[in-house]
Amino acid sequence: MYETSYHNINLGQYKFLITGGAGFIGSNLTEYLLKYGAGKVRILDDFSTGSRENIKPFLDNPAFELYEGDIRDIEACRRAVEGMDYISHQAALGSVPRSINDPITTNEVNISGFLNMLVAARDANIKRMIYAASSSTYGDHPDLPKVEDKIGNPLSPYAITKYVNELYAGTFSKVYNFHTIGLRYFNVFGPKQDPDGAYAAVIPLFIKAALSAEAPFINGDGKTSRDFTFVENAVQANIRALFFNDLHEHQVVNIACGESTTLNQLWKVISSVEDVDIQPHYQPEREGDVKHSLADISKVNGLLGYVPSVKVKDGLVLTYSWYKNKKK
Ligand SMILES: NC(=O)c1ccc[n+]([C@@H]2O[C@H](COP(=O)([O-])OP(=O)(O)OC[C@H]3O[C@@H](n4cnc5c(N)ncnc54)[C@H](O)[C@@H]3O)[C@@H](O)[C@H]2O)c1
Repeated sequence: MYETSYHNINLGQYKFLITGGAGFIGSNLTEYLLKYGAGKVRILDDFSTGSRENIKPFLDNPAFELYEGDIRDIEACRRAVEGMDYISHQAALGSVPRSINDPITTNEVNISGFLNMLVAARDANIKRMIYAASSSTYGDHPDLPKVEDKIGNPLSPYAITKYVNELYAGTFSKVYNFHTIGLRYFNVFGPKQDPDGAYAAVIPLFIKAALSAEAPFINGDGKTSRDFTFVENAVQANIRALFFNDLHEHQVVNIACGESTTLNQLWKVISSVEDVDIQPHYQPEREGDVKHSLADISKVNGLLGYVPSVKVKDGLVLTYSWYKNKKK
């Protein structure tokens, strides 16, 4: 992965903090930065949902540094940002169902933790902070494809937290002249995404089912659709946003592929890669989920020059072989 670079500056002169760097997206971003010779990549993570395995390949790299800590602790955030040039804030508790089961912890990590990072970054005069926003912010707005400035009411506690992040970031831009970019990710998938546990995402669950020749569970009739986004595209967006020079206000952009795939189509592709012919189990739709989600990516294309370099099908094949090799 990451055969293409998305930057044209020497990364060796800069130090990067990736919060949530032991998680799925954060560890992929860390991999990219180390691969292209970043001066330092420090991660801040409490390993609540991330894993030591995700960062194992970096431990021998002298440019890599691990800060074990909790973003709910402002002092941990202040220590982590010290001496850094750039920050990508990925740490959060993901998952709509998790937030429905435990809204208080999701709120503390995703809102208070986010605010701590904003304050710490502002005070440390870092060059740029990027943060993980979410397509869940579109809530019940009916329009498709989703355009950044048309959002509805949130459908879950998780969606509220991600929207509050945007509100805080917008306010920090106006009040403190501290400008950030929020990346509204749409269903990111790829290597290193956790396939286990109650809150696993659909693609690792489907791949796990195909690899063990078991029927996957589909919530609803399978016609639910998503704009699945291969993780390299999310990494590309982070890199472009970190080095975007012309930022005079807070910006929020969709990060997606711009392609719609139903869950039934998804299972068809995944089961055909493994060459299994299994009918899924259908179960009731989940609370808090939207039926369809598809992004308009023209804003991020115009602002940052982002073009999804890996399409859904190619990303699925790459992801599939990664899980298959891991299983061996
Ligand atoms: N994966 C997606 O499809 C998707 C979609 C929209 C938004 N996002 C957002 O992108 C970001 C990264 O998501 P991911 O899929 O890589 O999730 P992940 O769970 O794999 O990674 C999150 C990381 O944050 C760490 N973390 C959690 N709470 C923490 C705390 N209190 N202090 C320090 N570290 C903490 C976890 O240990 C983990 O390593 C999150 O902010 C998530 O909300 C993800």
